[in-house]
Amino acid sequence: MENFIYSNPTKIIFGKNTVSRIGKEALKFGKKALIVYGKGSIKKNGVYDTVTDSLRKNGVDFAEHSGVKPNPVLSHVKEGIELFKKEKCDMIIAVGGGSVIDESKAVSCGVFYEGDVWDFFIEKAEIQKAVPILVVLTLPATGSEANSGAVVTNEKTLQKYSIHSYHLFPKVSILDPSTTFSLPIEQTAYGAVDAILHVSEGFFTTKDTDCVITDNYIYGVIKTLINSTERIMKDPKDYNARASFMWSATLALNGQQALGYKGIEFVNHVIEHSLSAIYDIPHGLGLGVVFPGFLKYLISKGEYERILEFGENILGIKNDSRKETALKTVNEIENWFRKLGLKNKLSENSIFEKDFEKITKNAMELGNLWGWSYTEKDVIEILNYQK
Ligand code: NZQ
Ligand code: ZN
Repeated sequence: MENFIYSNPTKIIFGKNTVSRIGKEALKFGKKALIVYGKGSIKKNGVYDTVTDSLRKNGVDFAEHSGVKPNPVLSHVKEGIELFKKEKCDMIIAVGGGSVIDESKAVSCGVFYEGDVWDFFIEKAEIQKAVPILVVLTLPATGSEANSGAVVTNEKTLQKYSIHSYHLFPKVSILDPSTTFSLPIEQTAYGAVDAILHVSEGFFTTKDTDCVITDNYIYGVIKTLINSTERIMKDPKDYNARASFMWSATLALNGQQALGYKGIEFVNHVIEHSLSAIYDIPHGLGLGVVFPGFLKYLISKGEYERILEFGENILGIKNDSRKETALKTVNEIENWFRKLGLKNKLSENSIFEKDFEKITKNAMELGNLWGWSYTEKDVIEILNYQK
């Protein structure tokens, strides 16, 4: 088990009827907020009204930056930065899923920066300061509500890149599972896959595999996600299932998921970011395509011990040290994804072999920026398994 330093400053307010606490929390950070949200789901499910009522009751003024798209884009971030400055806001309140939170984080550091906010994404500049962000989460998946990262696509260059800074941790995140009752079933499925991948990246790439506590943490998170997703598929209004799902997704990327691991690489995420940069597909869907290919690639290299451990501890498949059992485990994972309705072949998502070179080149640029050890040949091999 490797040494680590862990600090997560985000205050979490979790449970039923908690969204109305936003005004009181916001008041601690100033008198005017920029509310950031997406294309309107929060107006349909009532969350917008609860948030704005609470702000008014607490005397917090607000401006609105709406229309954040899934896989948020740089041009819209820049509009948010200008609006924040023009309205002289003190804080940002992100109301939505990962895209809304991530765009808010990019705005929060962009308002203090003279240059192009994209400089932070290409590591040309370092984030020194950010305005406070508060979150009302409506889609559990990315963990952005309690982590220091954000992902934005530069739609001109087709680069889906990220920023990371301690300044980007939300100050407060409100998680009311009932806000997720209105989620379309496919968004719940994408969220489950994304959260499973957040814990799996470290599990499958750590160079130190003797870290029992983190392994067991991961088994618990994934088993809970599988169980709660199945309950939600049967009854989308099952509060306790929604609650377990929501909290698991936060735990899956709040920093604890890789403590003690060594030299981990976000391989599936790098390749997926290229898919959603080029084809604008949902992040969780893209991961559902890449992950089985990555596991088959590991098996082809004879590196399947972790797959056997995953199979035994999560899916109850007896670890008999055989390659066939590892393949069976991958097959079960793929079957579960398909049961959730995910099309996990590239061609089913209109992504064809003729583009593999383009995808690989895009992935290599991001992978190299993140410092990975994969080559073009590796990426092509992974894609080939899922064509
Ligand atoms: O636009 P609105 O109307 O808000 O609708 C959204 C959107 O269409 C809808 N939605 C959200 N909550 C809802 C709802 N619909 C009904 N009821 C609700 N309660 O869901 C759609 C997808 O929303 P989005 O925010 O895009 O999804 P998600 O939370 O999966 O975020 C994905 C983005 O986060 C990035 C991804 O790459 C992608 O850009 N990630 C961020 C990470 C981070 N910051 O740590 C890590 C992840 O690995 C990931 O890369
Ligand atoms: Zn992810």
